[in-house]
Amino acid sequence: MIKIAPSILSADFTNLEKEILNIQKAGADILHLDIMDGHFVPNLTFGLPLIKQIKQLCKIPVDVHLMVKNPELYLTELGKWKIEYVSIHQETVIHLHRQISILKSLGIKAGIALNPATPVETVFSIIQEIDYVLLMSVNPGFGGQKFLPLVYNKIKKLRAYSNEFNPNLKIEVDGGINNLNVRKLIELGADIIVAGSYIFEDKDYKKQIDNLRLE
Ligand code: DX5
Ligand code: ZN
Repeated sequence: MIKIAPSILSADFTNLEKEILNIQKAGADILHLDIMDGHFVPNLTFGLPLIKQIKQLCKIPVDVHLMVKNPELYLTELGKWKIEYVSIHQETVIHLHRQISILKSLGIKAGIALNPATPVETVFSIIQEIDYVLLMSVNPGFGGQKFLPLVYNKIKKLRAYSNEFNPNLKIEVDGGINNLNVRKLIELGADIIVAGSYIFEDKDYKKQIDNLRLE
């Protein structure tokens, strides 16, 4: 079953509690939080204090997408608060295996996020240690960007490799997803669909989420 993970990057931050409750009511499966530090990406969002408060108010699993230079600074706290999913960008860490091991020891589902230009083969050697791969279909940093079709081929390769070496691996796709491109992502083997602007651009969040499941 495909899971829809709205990204609150496109929500109204002055009414965040209401937005989160509404998106839950609309049938979201997972809440996607984009953490940006102004270094790994040219934009800044929010950090640990707000993640903690969101987690306390949220009934669905929380997925923390760390677009930061030093993800290791966040992991212990995220574990304490029982965050369900955390992805770390492969491009930002030297000792990826160590950080994945820390996530696992904290009981968090461990994900590796890949920028559009990073070859999907870079996760192959560690595929048995991870729970999911987050494939970026835009360059990270901003909501509302244009979808990059190069991700299709990456999903295809990753699904084929994971079928053999880690059949439980989930593939999450993030960036520029709408009702028109979602079907192909699902057909190729995506399990978790992140969408920000598409869901929040219409007041009827339930309709938008349902469109992503059915299209
Ligand atoms: C981009 C973020 C995405 C983004 C998705 O850096 O990782 O999660 O919010 O937003 P849309 O769906 O608008 O591309
Ligand atoms: Zn994201």
